[in-house]
Amino acid sequence: MAKQYKTVMTHFSKYLPPGKVTNDDLSKLMDTNDAWITERSGIKERRFVEEPVATSDLAIEAVKNVLAASNLKPSDFDYIIASTLSPDYYFPGIAPIVQHKLGFPTIPAVDIRVQCSAFVYSTQMADAMIKSGQYKRILLVFSDVQSKMLDLTTKGRNVAVLFGDGAAAAICEAVECTEDEMPSVGNMSSGVIDTILGSDGLGAELLLTRSPGTATKGFLSAESVENGDWHPTMEGRSVFKHAVTRMCEVAETLMKRHNITANDLVCLVPHQANLRISEMVREKMELPKEKVFNNIHCYGNTTSATIPICINEALEQGRLKKGDLIMTVAFGAGFTWGASLIRL
Ligand SMILES: CC(C)(COP(=O)(O)OP(=O)(O)OC[C@H]1O[C@@H](n2cnc3c(N)ncnc32)[C@H](O)[C@@H]1OP(=O)(O)O)[C@@H](O)C(=O)NCCC(=O)NCCS
Repeated sequence: MAKQYKTVMTHFSKYLPPGKVTNDDLSKLMDTNDAWITERSGIKERRFVEEPVATSDLAIEAVKNVLAASNLKPSDFDYIIASTLSPDYYFPGIAPIVQHKLGFPTIPAVDIRVQCSAFVYSTQMADAMIKSGQYKRILLVFSDVQSKMLDLTTKGRNVAVLFGDGAAAAICEAVECTEDEMPSVGNMSSGVIDTILGSDGLGAELLLTRSPGTATKGFLSAESVENGDWHPTMEGRSVFKHAVTRMCEVAETLMKRHNITANDLVCLVPHQANLRISEMVREKMELPKEKVFNNIHCYGNTTSATIPICINEALEQGRLKKGDLIMTVAFGAGFTWGASLIRL
């Protein structure tokens, strides 16, 4: 019988920079306050890096943590997938920087740009690469430093209060198995069961950093700098509605495809964009509060890293354990979205 491989996500890690920024700290920079931010988003504090820390620096700390937790060394890996919207440089991406600085062999290293949908997109990619038999152990890296891009004045307050810096890493490992041992909702076999992804560029202009880029005359002009086009901007209400709609839709489709109900899930791990979005998804899925993991109050939206940071913390806190069936669901700029079913 032909060999089959399943993808087991064996270890998760996180790294948050030490610098805490509370809502009160932000209220000294712009016209905002703790009550507004807490009520609208659930966020109490977030972490910001200090100069000269760059996105790859956070990524490297997260990778060091996952290597220590797994007792693996760089030479045990054969692929790196890094997700970020805030690379150190316009190009190259951060994956080759992580590869070089941590002494990985000269393995393939790629950045993907799907913003807050990073976890579901990179899980699907790694799973397909492993199931094809081409790669055996893939490192997933998630890192974002949004703080340097934010408009920390009243003009940018609707975006600036939502984001924090942070990084995470996860290990995807190929495990040979029989047909019966392929992970499914009907058995206890650990691994990635399924992922559904989507995108709609109709939302591109609703959440973006406009410049620098080739849509800017001269790529980076004095005018675009003056306009503050290098800050992320968002049509908050519209993005909110699309996020809730797409996250509910994709979670429901994935559950239907596997003939399960919310009762079958041990935990839903949603992208941490806004506590109100997570709550609306939870209510639509008819999940009790204790079956959803949130930590947005501590870190804000760490963009690519929210879901793996949550899984790492849930495992550390004993809220999740090996063998648990979880669903992750995400929505991000692009728009991009997706959900995955994983047995830890
Ligand atoms: C950003 C968000 C929290 C704003 O909440 P909202 O209820 O939609 O609030 P609005 O943008 O309509 O603003 C309401 C008022 O608060 C003001 N406001 C905006 N940001 C503020 C802040 N940080 N502090 C105080 N007031 C603020 C607005 O200026 C507006 O004032 P006005 O009524 O006088 O014009 C919300 O839209 C959201 O979470 N959107 C989606 C976020 C998201 O998912 N992003 C990433 C996807 S990966």
